[in-house]
Amino acid sequence: MQPSASAPVRCGLMARSAPLALLRDAGRVTVLSAPPGSGKTMVLRSWIATDDLAGRVAWVSAPRDAQRFWISIADALRGTAAGSALVRPLTPALGLDGWAVVERLLADLAPLREPVWLIIDDMQDLAADALHQVEQVVLRAPPDLRLVLASRHDMRLGLHRLRLEGELTEIRAADLRFTVAEARDLLTGAGVRLSDAALARLHEQTEGWAAGLRLAALSLAGCPDPERSADQFSGGERTVAEYLLAEVLDRQDERARRLLLRTSVLDRVNGELADLLTGGSGGEQILHDLERGGAFVVSLDAYGSWFRYHRLFAELLRRELRRTARDDIPALHAAAATWLVEHDCPAEAVRHMHELPQAPMLPEPLTGSEARVLHYLPTHLTAAEIAQQLHLSVHTVTTHLRHLYAKLGAHRRHEAVDQARALGLLT
Ligand SMILES: Nc1ncnc2c1ncn2[C@@H]1O[C@H](COP(=O)(O)OP(=O)(O)OP(=O)(O)O)[C@@H](O)[C@H]1O
Ligand SMILES: [Mg+2]
Repeated sequence: MQPSASAPVRCGLMARSAPLALLRDAGRVTVLSAPPGSGKTMVLRSWIATDDLAGRVAWVSAPRDAQRFWISIADALRGTAAGSALVRPLTPALGLDGWAVVERLLADLAPLREPVWLIIDDMQDLAADALHQVEQVVLRAPPDLRLVLASRHDMRLGLHRLRLEGELTEIRAADLRFTVAEARDLLTGAGVRLSDAALARLHEQTEGWAAGLRLAALSLAGCPDPERSADQFSGGERTVAEYLLAEVLDRQDERARRLLLRTSVLDRVNGELADLLTGGSGGEQILHDLERGGAFVVSLDAYGSWFRYHRLFAELLRRELRRTARDDIPALHAAAATWLVEHDCPAEAVRHMHELPQAPMLPEPLTGSEARVLHYLPTHLTAAEIAQQLHLSVHTVTTHLRHLYAKLGAHRRHEAVDQARALGLLT
């Protein structure tokens, strides 16, 4: 039997060793920033339970109302052993001023000489003012007040100085991703047993996303053939779809929703492609906002120009697109193919060409190189000039042209262009 990757803390809650180690070794301030359902709250709960921190932790789930927020912080701090003697109670009062509360709390906590953890969960719900007030607490708190701030997306907190001083620990989606072994434990805990192969596929599908795995466990637990169902588990699964729809898609404004749906035909997306497929503008900004907003949009490069969607989310988006705008799909693939050929991504372009409804009429699919040459056919460039543009030999280009004509059933260049247009391979 394989050793367990995690220990059950209590019914349904697992202590996961890697994120727990990060929390234990953390500096004075820890920021947990990961999309909905990544396991932020659960990892914090399991940490408190396994390390027996109950009397030393003040836990607040950020409400939108600033007055209630500060009252619950004072109450939570007073609930700890060390804080009970130091922190004065705060009562609701008309015009209770957050900035004044911060000064008072800092003064009360100044004599603190043993570690107390203040955990603020769901920070994304805090109003801007309260966020700045929290920032003041973070920057000026006594050394023994440890802060853990959890949020669905990165917050604009001025914590660079802490980062430079090594006082800041950052825990992100990649750190919270379930390993295969943890996924197995989660499923076993729900009474679901899968073969290694089925488990590996499920893990790949969900990308180790906690909520996805949990939802899979729920749906597989009541299922007569979990092995088979696990194979079919995808973003289309009803429970995941409902969760994602409610949590992510429904919260986006109309422009972002349109962008997500229409670009779901792509394997990866950048601002230009997004604008092309939506017929709008500002796609790059929307993608950045979606990524920062924890909307299952993952940046693929350091410059933040290419993005992709979490696999389960992408499947759900494609399903929604089929439901709501099925007729637009071929045009989206055709536009994507053209853009990708123009931008030197022929292999990706061919994938889109194959999605076109007429594509099966080709006796054999085009190769990436043929797609690149095809793109030049409607121009007046000669084979030699095309070769120059593509940094290929004339011989190679003529070979591609010969194959292209054969596949398109054409004898002349204009026939090849007409046929490619009819098939949607050229716009
Ligand atoms: N350590 C764990 N043990 C058992 N289940 C877990 C664990 N971590 C996550 N899960 C499952 O994943 C779900 C989502 O986790 P959690 O609520 O912690 O996510 P979150 O990142 O706090 O999400 P949100 O941003 O929506 O608050 C949980 O409801 C639970 O079913
Ligand atoms: Mg949470």
